[in-house]
Amino acid sequence: MKNIKLISHPLIEHKLAILRDERTPPFQFRMLIDEISYLMMFEATRDLALREVSVKTPVTTANAKKLATKVMICPILRAALGMLDSVFKLMPDASVGFLGFQRNEKTAQAEFFYAKLPPDATARTAIIIDPMFATGGTAIDAVKFLKDRGVSEIKFISIIAAPEGLRRFSDVYPDVEVYTAAIDERLNEQNYIVPGLGDAGDRVFNT
Ligand code: URA
Repeated sequence: MKNIKLISHPLIEHKLAILRDERTPPFQFRMLIDEISYLMMFEATRDLALREVSVKTPVTTANAKKLATKVMICPILRAALGMLDSVFKLMPDASVGFLGFQRNEKTAQAEFFYAKLPPDATARTAIIIDPMFATGGTAIDAVKFLKDRGVSEIKFISIIAAPEGLRRFSDVYPDVEVYTAAIDERLNEQNYIVPGLGDAGDRVFNT
């Protein structure tokens, strides 16, 4: 699966260990989600296109570079809201396109309920964020939603992924890169990632 990029870094490993711990309270959980997302975002944006600019410094004129890519961050509601601030720290000019999917507790399937994209969405590189990449169903639906509306450049950032979900997603969208900090063992009968960290939304929002 060439499109799957496992980001491996000692700081991320350390923070992941605390994030997974069931004793980690919500305020610290949120802080860790923010810090890990920030580090992952740094890596996932490594290939964004740049343009040459000329900047007048107090000394002379410098040839420099600025981002040539306009970015649209697409948080999948609701757990990904915990990742959004970290993106704004790195890219304050990014637009946000909300994608609402909700887990049906009876079927364990994600169901679409809301979307709000910026008007120039098709001119932007979309970075979908969702802390947990479980069955891949939501990820496939989210990418399809954007592609159907003409968004062509799409990446996905997820903190913890299940191998089943990554395989299913890569079969459908081998062209979409998925950045993850951990590929766990498997999904359980309720489609939770094992060992995972439980329900990310509940832990972010203390519900
Ligand atoms: N969503 C979560 O929050 N946790 C999982 O383990 C799987 C999906």
